[in-house]
Amino acid sequence: MLTKEDNEKLTRVGPGTPMGNVFRRYWLPALLSSEVAEPDGAPVRVRLLGEDLVAFRDSNGAVGLVDAYCPHRRAPMFLARNEKCGLRCVYHGWKFDVTGQCVDMPTEPRDSAYKSRMRIDAYPTWEGGGIVWAYMGPAAEQPAPPAWELIRAPATHRFVSRTLQDCNYLQALEGGLDSAHAQILHNINIGDLSWLDNFESTTPKLDVYPTDYGFRYTGIRILDNRYWVRAYHYIMPVTQVRARIVPVRGKTPRVPAICGHYWVPVDDTTTTVFNFLYSADPQIPITEDFAVESETDDGRSPDDIGPDLRNRQNSRNDYMIDREVQKTKTFTGIKGVNTQDVAVQEGMGRIVDRSKEHLGSTDRAIVTMRRALLEAIRTVEAGGHPRGTDPNSYAHVRAVDQYCNGESEIAALIEREMVARF
Ligand code: FES
Ligand SMILES: [Fe+2]
Repeated sequence: MLTKEDNEKLTRVGPGTPMGNVFRRYWLPALLSSEVAEPDGAPVRVRLLGEDLVAFRDSNGAVGLVDAYCPHRRAPMFLARNEKCGLRCVYHGWKFDVTGQCVDMPTEPRDSAYKSRMRIDAYPTWEGGGIVWAYMGPAAEQPAPPAWELIRAPATHRFVSRTLQDCNYLQALEGGLDSAHAQILHNINIGDLSWLDNFESTTPKLDVYPTDYGFRYTGIRILDNRYWVRAYHYIMPVTQVRARIVPVRGKTPRVPAICGHYWVPVDDTTTTVFNFLYSADPQIPITEDFAVESETDDGRSPDDIGPDLRNRQNSRNDYMIDREVQKTKTFTGIKGVNTQDVAVQEGMGRIVDRSKEHLGSTDRAIVTMRRALLEAIRTVEAGGHPRGTDPNSYAHVRAVDQYCNGESEIAALIEREMVARF
């Protein structure tokens, strides 16, 4: 459990809050590059860390991320014209470039120097891995650009998607790091429930190793007389990198992949999830069909996710839970892995009260993550650099999700499969 005070500290992300200050020390995914595909295309609304912003790609291809309101009389910049290397407010025509500098002020005298002193609040952006990254913190603390292996993987080998969830980022992040729920929540073939009696034999041997970017987790289960080795990384503040063979079923060939999520706070009670996947093997590119199939497996097909980026099965329709299916076929009666996760995470309430929880032995990863974030709050308050801001710390991490036959193979497998190949 957490005290109410610590829970409050970890979950509030607006300007000036302790955790908000921590988030403002990292490059964060803000939107997909494909959402601002065209130079001089339509501006896009972005809400990040409780701040309303507008993103646009200028005539030269650079992406700007500026205040959603014009500094003149606060007209909405979403309505602005994106023209000739700047965003021009439609109210009185003031125009701003991607750095936020005012470059034209048609309502002021021609010889006025007013425009050279005028700026709209703007955040630095950086593009890579199909993602527009934003840095929203103090200029003097801006870290080197992000260095994920995803970014080095060629566009032919990766894909990213973005969804929205109506809950605080921390409970979504915790859902990702908590690997013990997989066999229960996501069980799709329960038959009778006698397998639960034997659950202990498949409970993983868990290890959590603190690192200079967060921690490395290993879980080793014995299943069918073989060892199931799963090792993932938590990279501060909101990233998990893990491994999988995808798609789970389907027509395209199955590919060993590195995948994961960035759970980025839109505000205190909404989270945008960047889902990424790239081929673990530089020799195997990823086809369009493969991407569609893999997203469908995960419950993120266009049938599952609406144009508002939220699940069509949602709290308003109780995630379309089918009680008959729940009795006879699947543990939840809710269709789709992703939807099952979202249903429990949102169902806790917008911000879960962690002073009321009772953690168990499989919650070690979650406890370690919370401690790391609380430590980051103290570090930033003391004027230091929180872990994971240096891109070199996580640039070469990889993950494992594989079977092996003997205990002696485990260490070699982990060592071999944990090093980036792009
Ligand atoms: S409000 Fe934007 S130019 Fe006047
Ligand atoms: Fe899950």
